[in-house]
Amino acid sequence: MVRTSHDQYRENVAGRADVADTPELVAYYEELEQIAAGALWTVANKIEPWQPKSESVPMIWRYRDLRPYVLRSAELVTPEKAGRRVIYLNNPGRRDVSAAVGWLYSGLQTMKPGELASAHAHSASALRFIMEGRGAFTIVDGHKMTLGANDFVLTPSGNWHEHGVSADGTPCIWQDGLDVPLVNAMEAGFYVVHPELNQAVTHPVDDTTATWAATALHPQGTAWNKPYSPLFKYEWEPSYESLRRYARVTEGSLFDGVLMNYVNPLTGGPVMPTMGASMQMLRAGERTKAHRHTGSFLYQAVKGSGYSIVNGKRLDWTERDIFCVPSWAFHEHANASQTDDACLFCFHDLPVMNALGLYREQALAENGGHQPVLE
Ligand SMILES: [Fe+2]
Ligand SMILES: [Fe+2]
Repeated sequence: MVRTSHDQYRENVAGRADVADTPELVAYYEELEQIAAGALWTVANKIEPWQPKSESVPMIWRYRDLRPYVLRSAELVTPEKAGRRVIYLNNPGRRDVSAAVGWLYSGLQTMKPGELASAHAHSASALRFIMEGRGAFTIVDGHKMTLGANDFVLTPSGNWHEHGVSADGTPCIWQDGLDVPLVNAMEAGFYVVHPELNQAVTHPVDDTTATWAATALHPQGTAWNKPYSPLFKYEWEPSYESLRRYARVTEGSLFDGVLMNYVNPLTGGPVMPTMGASMQMLRAGERTKAHRHTGSFLYQAVKGSGYSIVNGKRLDWTERDIFCVPSWAFHEHANASQTDDACLFCFHDLPVMNALGLYREQALAENGGHQPVLE
């Protein structure tokens, strides 16, 4: 029989568990196992590391690699059979929970002209970022939205939603982001298929944008008391224009360049309780400094090209590439162009970190704030 070690997490540090195995202790541990119990000091240093220890690997998924497989899925399965025709991003450190990073799921979904997926609802919150194609639409709680490249769309927890592409459109691809792994970790996930398979459109098309997206103007007499944004679609052109205008009057952030958060227009807070999102601009030639913080982040390069260094790993990105920054990983970004700006879309779980009081941040002090590139 292989002898099980119970002292592999020992640390010879005052205040930490440092108990060596003895025959008597090992016998005691084995007796504890018989009654489904254990001695904390055998696992304490493992389950309470000195600092966050992400199992997620810094990864980049290049669009030129993914895109052919995503399009091929449209030949292999129908939306009716697959439910959702999605190729998901499977972080090598998070395969057990099908996460792209931390507790966040992401995948690329494709639909062909004339296709309509069935309506469903789930406890998980979802968001969508449109990558390519014409004619895509989504219906959320009776609100139909027309979608174009770089539009950002919400599907908050519990809402009926379905997606399709109009018959006169082109094959469409978008990135889905969901908090499914988090909801599963909380053992709180429900899933329902719409009893009629599709829902009725009960509001004028694009009404949430018409109602809530005006610059600093809110309609009078419109009540909203849900825990997520009433604005379901954030269009690209006004978002990019906002970044350009802000860039003219700000130094920007040392770590992020010019970054703006997508917000709930009523609260100024995150778009949904569990996930937030941002769009940032790296100005021509801009290279940010490195910092790290708690929270998991998934970026999509939306415009331009450049690179990010994540825990010493250089990730070169260009338009539509997706990369992740695991919790507490140092990261810095650079725009490769000396003449044009580059833009990064990002979604993350910072609303959870903030709500639970778990957000921490630290700048890299050494080496002028830049990481050595290790791989
Ligand atoms: Fe869904
Ligand atoms: Fe950051």
